Amino acid sequence: MRILLTGASGLLGAACARRAAELGHETVGIVGTWHGPVAGLTQRRQANLNNLAALAGLVHEARPDCILHTAAVSDPAACEVSPLVAQQLNVELPAALAQLAVARGVRLVHLSSEQVFDGEHAPYVPADPPAPLNLYGKQKAESEQRVLEAAPTAAVVRASLLLGNSPSGRRSVHEKFFATWKAGQRMRLYTDEVRQVCSADNLAAALLELAERPDLAGIFHWAGTEPASRWEIGRRIAAHFGVAEKWLEPVARAVTPDSSARRPRDLSLRLAPLDHELRTRPQTLDEAVAGLTEPPEYAGWRPPNGETRQR
Ligand SMILES: NC(=O)c1ccc[n+]([C@@H]2O[C@H](COP(=O)([O-])OP(=O)(O)OC[C@H]3O[C@@H](n4cnc5c(N)ncnc54)[C@H](OP(=O)(O)O)[C@@H]3O)[C@@H](O)[C@H]2O)c1
Repeated sequence: MRILLTGASGLLGAACARRAAELGHETVGIVGTWHGPVAGLTQRRQANLNNLAALAGLVHEARPDCILHTAAVSDPAACEVSPLVAQQLNVELPAALAQLAVARGVRLVHLSSEQVFDGEHAPYVPADPPAPLNLYGKQKAESEQRVLEAAPTAAVVRASLLLGNSPSGRRSVHEKFFATWKAGQRMRLYTDEVRQVCSADNLAAALLELAERPDLAGIFHWAGTEPASRWEIGRRIAAHFGVAEKWLEPVARAVTPDSSARRPRDLSLRLAPLDHELRTRPQTLDEAVAGLTEPPEYAGWRPPNGETRQR
């Protein structure tokens, strides 16, 4: 299969590129600003995907059987800072890709997020109505609607918080832990905020299977098997890297009422029907953590056993 992969330099996109190569697919990967290596691509294209006028040409040249769309402004804080840029990337771009996919008879797999939910009615099933608390969640919810209006045969996957090793070594959860520890600070983690994490590699395996299943259309959920608090997720990550628990700081959401109001409390997801349809198995938390490697920037480094600096 020939795949056009947007966001090839991202946490998930890079995992998709690796998985596609393992499966023997040809992948044309679009990167934005990243200049470092991306393994697994047959062809690499640099493009600003905010320029929708150039999109048709990119798709035409790539001649894909499938468009795997992972590019996004994926950081909720960045969406609040630059809402118009985020709207273009997170809503207008997938809507335009959906139109192009239909016009060319190409399979489209689009990434949405658990953040379309408000976190008060977990566990969520794919048919539950979105009720986003933040702009990122609103944009993802709008993207789902716009994509499926234009391309009813597309697959839209709401993913959970992802663990993994990003190309930059700075993007993912444990990579941010290392940066915080290096600054001499403890990592603050909510004891009462729940996520059902999976690894980017595991999600990539599911997405590549889905790409080859045009019989599966509409909205799907993918996550790990275990809902856990951010504190518990952090404890497993610290233990995996042999870092003492004192480098983690348990906090309640009530301590940060302003930001907590914009962050859903419990985003546990039900994975049916996708977990019954695919050969890829959802991972336990320990399986997702087991695949984490230290960011290259911090190779061989661990926080010292001495005192930590308080915020
Ligand atoms: N990470 C998570 O925990 C998570 C959870 C649920 C859903 N998701 C969704 O999964 C998808 C992938 O997320 P991710 O974590 O892999 O994102 P990410 O690591 O932040 O990567 C974003 C990708 O989008 C590209 N991009 C951004 N703006 C661009 C532009 N103007 N032109 C071209 N490329 C641009 C980036 O390219 P450069 O870096 O080269 O600029 C990068 O490849 C997104 O749709 C996200 O919303 C992520």
